[in-house]
Parts: sequence; C-alpha cells; structure tokens
Amino acid sequence: MEIKPEVRKFSDVDVDALVVSIFEGERPDQGVLKELDELSGQMLSQIIGTEEMRGRVADIAYLHQPGKIRSRRLLLVGAGKADEFSIDSVSRYAGTAARFLRSKGVRSMALVRRSNLDLELSAQAAVEGVLMGLFEPDQYKTRDREERQIDRLVLVASDAGSEEPMLRAINRGKVIGEAVNFARGLSNEPSSVLTPTELAERARQTADQFGLTIDILDEPRMKELGMGALLGVARGSDEPCKLIVLRYPGAGARAGARDGDLIAIVGKGITFDSGGISIKPADGMEKMKYDMSGAAATLGAMRAIAQLKPSVDVIGLMPASENMPSGSAYKPGDVLRAMSGKTIEVINTDAEGRLILADAITYAKKLGATRIIDLATLTGAVSVALGTVYAAILGNDQNFVNEVRKAAAAVGERFWQLPMDEDYRDLIKSDIADIKNSGGRYGGTITAAYFLREFAENTPWVHLDIAGTAWESDKKPYTAKGPTGVGIRTLVNLICNEGHPA
Ligand code: BES
Ligand code: MN
Ligand code: ZN
Repeated sequence: MEIKPEVRKFSDVDVDALVVSIFEGERPDQGVLKELDELSGQMLSQIIGTEEMRGRVADIAYLHQPGKIRSRRLLLVGAGKADEFSIDSVSRYAGTAARFLRSKGVRSMALVRRSNLDLELSAQAAVEGVLMGLFEPDQYKTRDREERQIDRLVLVASDAGSEEPMLRAINRGKVIGEAVNFARGLSNEPSSVLTPTELAERARQTADQFGLTIDILDEPRMKELGMGALLGVARGSDEPCKLIVLRYPGAGARAGARDGDLIAIVGKGITFDSGGISIKPADGMEKMKYDMSGAAATLGAMRAIAQLKPSVDVIGLMPASENMPSGSAYKPGDVLRAMSGKTIEVINTDAEGRLILADAITYAKKLGATRIIDLATLTGAVSVALGTVYAAILGNDQNFVNEVRKAAAAVGERFWQLPMDEDYRDLIKSDIADIKNSGGRYGGTITAAYFLREFAENTPWVHLDIAGTAWESDKKPYTAKGPTGVGIRTLVNLICNEGHPA
C-alpha cells in the first residue's frame, strides 16, 4: 500500500473516498465541518444529528457525489465523545473506515485529521489502524476470500507545517502495522503447519530479511544446559522443541547508546496446547493453536525493532513446544529440574506455559539480560478477572511496570496491573519440590506470574498475560475476528523510546 501525507486542504485531495470523523453532539457550524457542509450543498447539516449519524463510535454515513470536493465519495465515521477521543480511538476509527470502504470496492482513501492529539502519534496510529483493519485470517479459504484491496492511503493534515514529521510517523506506523499482521498470520497458522521447527524457520527468515542474528537451540543443547522444565513439557510430543533466540545489537551500532542495558523479550511459544495428560475439554480446543501468540508478538516486535533501529540492545527469546499427551508425556506428580536448579512438582500438565518460560527467563539472564519482559497466553483466569478487554500486567519492579504501562497507554493498548503480594507465594509451595506449577483456581493469573517471578529473581521483570486478548472472537467494525497481535505496539514503543529512534 502506498501511504503518503498531504499538508493541504481536504477538498483538493484526489482519492476515491474522503473520511471525516464526527464527534458526538457536534454540528457542522464551524471549521472543517462547516466548510465541508458548504462545499457539499448542506449534505452534512441534513445528516448529522439524525439517527444515522449522531457521532457515536462506529456510526457510519456514506455519501455519494459530495458536491464541490475532489474525492468521489465522502465517508462520515462516528468518533464518540470528543473528550474521550484517544490514540486508540484513532486506530479504531481508521480501521473502521478502511474495512467499510474496502467492502464498497474503494481503492484509495484519505483520512482528515480533526483532533488535536499529538500529530505524529495520531498519524502513526491511523496507519496502524488501517493496516490492522485490513488484515483477514483467510489464508486457508478457497472461496469467499477477501480479494478487494485498498492500495493508496493519504493522511491529510492542514496543521502539520511540513511533511517531514508525518513521513516519519507513517513509516513507523507501516513498520509496526505490518509487524502486527505478520504476528497475527503466525497465530492463525494451524499447529500442523506451525510446529516449533517451522516457527524457528520463520524466525530464521525474519532474521535474514531484517538483519537480526539468530541462534536456535535444539534438544541436545537444551539438555546440556539443563533445561528440564522446557524439555519436560516437550516430552509428550513427536515434534522436537526449540529455543529460538534473536538478537538486535542496537547499542553497539550507535553513539549515545545505553551501555550494558540489555532488554529481553520472552514469548510463550506453545504451538498447540492440548493440556497434555491433564487434557483439556474438546470444546474450543482448536483455539489452542494460538498458544504461541506471545512468541509471535516477540518475533513481530523484533522485526519492527530491526527496521526502526533504536539504540538499545534487545534479545527476543521464544521457547517453542507442543503440549501433548502420549506414552512419553510428563505426568502430574513428576518433578522437573529447571535450568536455574529449582525443582518443580507438576500438579497439572496444562500449566505448561510457565514451565517453558521459566527456562527461557533463566537463559535470558545467562545471556546478560538486565531487564526482562515476557508475554504469554498463560491463564484462562485472566479472562475471568479482566474479560477480553484488558490484558494483565504484573512485575517485580514497580518502575519498570510503570514504564511499560506508559508505553502501552501511548499506543492505546490496555493493560491492568494485578497485585503480587508475598502472600500469593504460599499458593505455589510444594510438599515435594521447591515449587509447584499450579496454585489452583483462585488468583490463577497471579500465582502463574508468581511462578515466573521465582525465575526472574532480582532482575527487573514484567509479565503480560495476553490469554484473554490475543484472539478476538466477537465481530468488530475495525478488525476481523481472529488473532489480534496484542503487545507488539507496546513493546516497540517501549523500546524505541528507550533508545531514541533514528
Ligand atoms: N494456554 C492456556 C491458557 C489459555 C486459556 C490461553 C484460554 C488462551 C485461552 C494455559 O496453558 C493453561 O492451560 N492454563 C491453565 C492453568 C491451570 C491448569 C493452572 C488454565 O488457565 O486453566
Ligand atoms: Mn495449558
Ligand atoms: Zn498453554
């Protein structure tokens, strides 16, 4: 898709459709709306305020032959209350417009800037929103595939001064939007295609394409390192597990870098979670192909970071395995010895994510990570606590947690912090080993995080539980049902602001 800025009047832009947001309660009696109303022969005053267009989020009015403006169609999109309009709203409104216009066969569209949100952040969000909005998980359809395409997007900002900052923002939005869609494509892959070996292969291709270094640890190397937790989970599967390690050397390459700081992103890569011997019910089990969404987000973020080139060192770790029942599978009651030396009593083989992450976190520390952030579709309990709207954020260092929350808020991703008081640790005490892998139903997201904390130890660490937010199962005007790519925008923003992007 060709994306470009235009610092000029909306009425001169040559596209199929011009998109204008309408806030709740707004009348076309001033500014852009007044001008547009006059140029269109009072089309706006006739429609704004009617049931069709009250400015509520996702209200839509599609107007033909809009008078004296150059574009052939005019799309009004409700943007909700003006004082609640955020960066997240920008993405959603842009995605809603793009999906609607594509369904009408429109090939080129222009979004008119109307809010006074930060110019660069909102331009970036608009591009991300359009790209994410147009993603379809229909790779395996042979009929009813979405064949229509929007191939030109124009961002119109008469207040931008120059195109320079807009071009930077557009590039960031494009890189990040494409990275998110890349990750969504991975989450959508059936586990028969995306095995741990295939995930490693995709990571290798990504590394080659974008100039990252990669190390793929196979089972013999993991045995040498004593990764008994990761290897334990993989034992029931015919597919060998992998620990994929990507490296982006930012600080070495640039002046002014923060020396010695090494951020590790660690993503859960269970390519299929049957539950193992503690097998899951059949209903909904097909979804467990997306149990590698943390790893997909890690790979997506590393890909974007490689292109945006912040001056900070980053490694991305993806422990990848299936969780299967079989004669060789690990069983409840087994004791695993993790790489850190800690012993783990297996209570439930379906609590496998924390096991593979434990060894990956230990390995990140061995590689010199000074800060660790992990993402995982870790617990069903997170949806009980927060629904499918917020993901959970927990950590052992409030400053680092705050930093990640700030990065998330800036790009419009939603994380809600859950507590980590010492009291919760009691729930994962084992009579047999150092720790057990399940603390039971109550506070499931917190006890899972507590388990990981035992491996992060004193290294500043943040955990994102994305089990409730990595897959969208309700229809939304701004996005297709299916994988969401949650987490990538937050990670990339966090890391690029650390390392002052080029
Ligand atoms: N992958 C699941 C968590 C999950 C559930 C992700 C629903 C996405 C949607 C995880 O491995 C799991 O099975 N967790 C168990 C832990 C329990 C056995 C302590 C859970 O949440 O039930
Ligand atoms: Mn599980
Ligand atoms: Zn799982």
